[in-house]
Amino acid sequence: MPSNFDPVARWYRWLEYAGFGGALWRRRVEFLPELRAARRVLMAGEGDGRFLQAFLATNPQATVTYVDGSARMLELARRRTGTERVQFLQRDLAEGPAVDGEFDAIVTHFFLDCFREEEIANVVARLGRAPMWVVSEFQTPHWIWRSVVRGLYAFFGLTTGLRVDRLPDYAAALRSAGFELTERREGWGGLLVSELWRRRDTMQ
Ligand SMILES: C[S@@+](CC[C@H](N)C(=O)[O-])C[C@H]1O[C@@H](n2cnc3c(N)ncnc32)[C@H](O)[C@@H]1O
Repeated sequence: MPSNFDPVARWYRWLEYAGFGGALWRRRVEFLPELRAARRVLMAGEGDGRFLQAFLATNPQATVTYVDGSARMLELARRRTGTERVQFLQRDLAEGPAVDGEFDAIVTHFFLDCFREEEIANVVARLGRAPMWVVSEFQTPHWIWRSVVRGLYAFFGLTTGLRVDRLPDYAAALRSAGFELTERREGWGGLLVSELWRRRDTMQ
């Protein structure tokens, strides 16, 4: 059974601020300037729309395909932005066909961690048809961060039914799908990371 983020949608931002202050937000916007030239963007698992709002404000010409499995998250994002430049789609990205369309960039913030190791390669392969992919994620170089991430998975397991207990190796999946890591910045003592990946066959 897929997870369902509806029960936490309204509280999600406040839980985030309570737990991490502005640290997750700083990771999301780290590569916002690099997205300025993108005209067609796929945002997957982008939740309540805060990043979408910031993106649309800095990029007045882009159109966005905004896919999330949670109806409530999508409703919050639609209310926050409500623009005809955005196509909102409710879809479980763990399965099913690839999202239609050609994209200049893909954005996934704290979304790839919603998949198990055996799912991640498929998810990445089905999303990954763009020259650029902006990722924000958790990482666990230290045992303290492993405990924090275990706690987060326990919380989301109870509230959303998420059945994941460790971070998947999304970097290996991105490499297999033809991407190369070109920039990487850490935050919160190494727990958080922002990454810019580019498709090798589109790089000069
Ligand atoms: C942890 S939240 C991250 C939200 C937002 N990207 C952020 O930076 O806070 C994960 C989001 O991915 C969505 N999601 C999780 N699993 C999904 C799936 N299999 N298919 C589609 N969306 C999914 C959830 O509904 C939720 O909005």
